[in-house]
Amino acid sequence: MPIQLDEVAVSVSTADGDLALLHPTTLTLGERRIALVGSNGSGKSTFARLLNGLIEPTAGTVTVDGLDTRRDGAAVRRKVGFVFTNPDSQLVMPTSLEDIALSLRRTIKDKDARRAQARNILTEMGLAERADTSIHALSGGQKQLLALAGILATDPDVLIADEPTTLLDLRNTQLIADRLFALRQQLILVTHDLDLALRCDRAIVIDDARVAFDGQPADAVAFYRELVGS
Ligand SMILES: Nc1ncnc2c1ncn2[C@@H]1O[C@H](COP(=O)(O)OP(=O)(O)O)[C@@H](O)[C@H]1O
Ligand SMILES: [Mg+2]
Repeated sequence: MPIQLDEVAVSVSTADGDLALLHPTTLTLGERRIALVGSNGSGKSTFARLLNGLIEPTAGTVTVDGLDTRRDGAAVRRKVGFVFTNPDSQLVMPTSLEDIALSLRRTIKDKDARRAQARNILTEMGLAERADTSIHALSGGQKQLLALAGILATDPDVLIADEPTTLLDLRNTQLIADRLFALRQQLILVTHDLDLALRCDRAIVIDDARVAFDGQPADAVAFYRELVGS
C-alpha cells in the first residue's frame, strides 16, 4: 500500500504569525520512483520529512501502508528509510563495518553473524576494502554509499533520499544514482539534478510550500524551468 496524504498541512508559529511550510495537500504516492524538485527553501525537505514522520503534520494525516505517521511513528520509520544530503549526519560509528553492524542490530542479534552480514553488505556496495578504515578516511561518494547501505541494511520498503547527490561530483553522483535506481524499494528522490528527475516515473514540483505541478517528469521539468525562467 502506498503513502497517502489527506489534507496535510504544516505550519509553524513565528514572531510574525503562522508560517505555512506546506499548504493543504492531498495525494497518493504509489509509483516506484518519484522525484521532488523545486527551488531552495520551497518546502521539499518538509514534504519529504513528513513521509516518514520526521515532521508531523499540523493538520490532516499521512499514512504509510495504513500506518499513521503521528500515531505509529516508530513503525513508519521502520518501513520508510531516509537518506540525508550530508552523510556525516548519518554515520555515527568509527568504521564502515561497525556502522553497518549498528543498522543490523534490530534484525540480527548474534554479534558475529551481524559483522559477517555487515561485511557482505559492504562487499555489495563495493566498499569491502574500506570495512575497517575510519569513516573519516572515506571520500564523499564512499560516505554517501555507506550511509545508503546503512539505511538499506534496516530493510525498509520505501527509501526517501533528500538531495543525496548535491554534495557529490559527477562520477559519485552517477555511482549513487545507479544504486538508487537499481533498488527494489520504492524511491522518493528530492533532487536538483533534472536528469535524475527525468529517470523517475512521476515528478512533483514544490514551489512556495505548495505542490505546484504533479505529473510526468518531462512535463514537470518543463514546468519547473518555466517557473524559474530558465
Ligand atoms: N521549523 C521551521 N521553522 C521555521 N521555518 C522553517 C522551519 N522548517 C523549515 N522552515 C522554512 O521553510 C521553508 C522550506 O524549508 P525546506 O522544506 O527545508 O525547503 P527545501 O528543502 O525545499 O530547501 C524554508 O524557507 C525554511 O527556512
Ligand atoms: Mg531541503
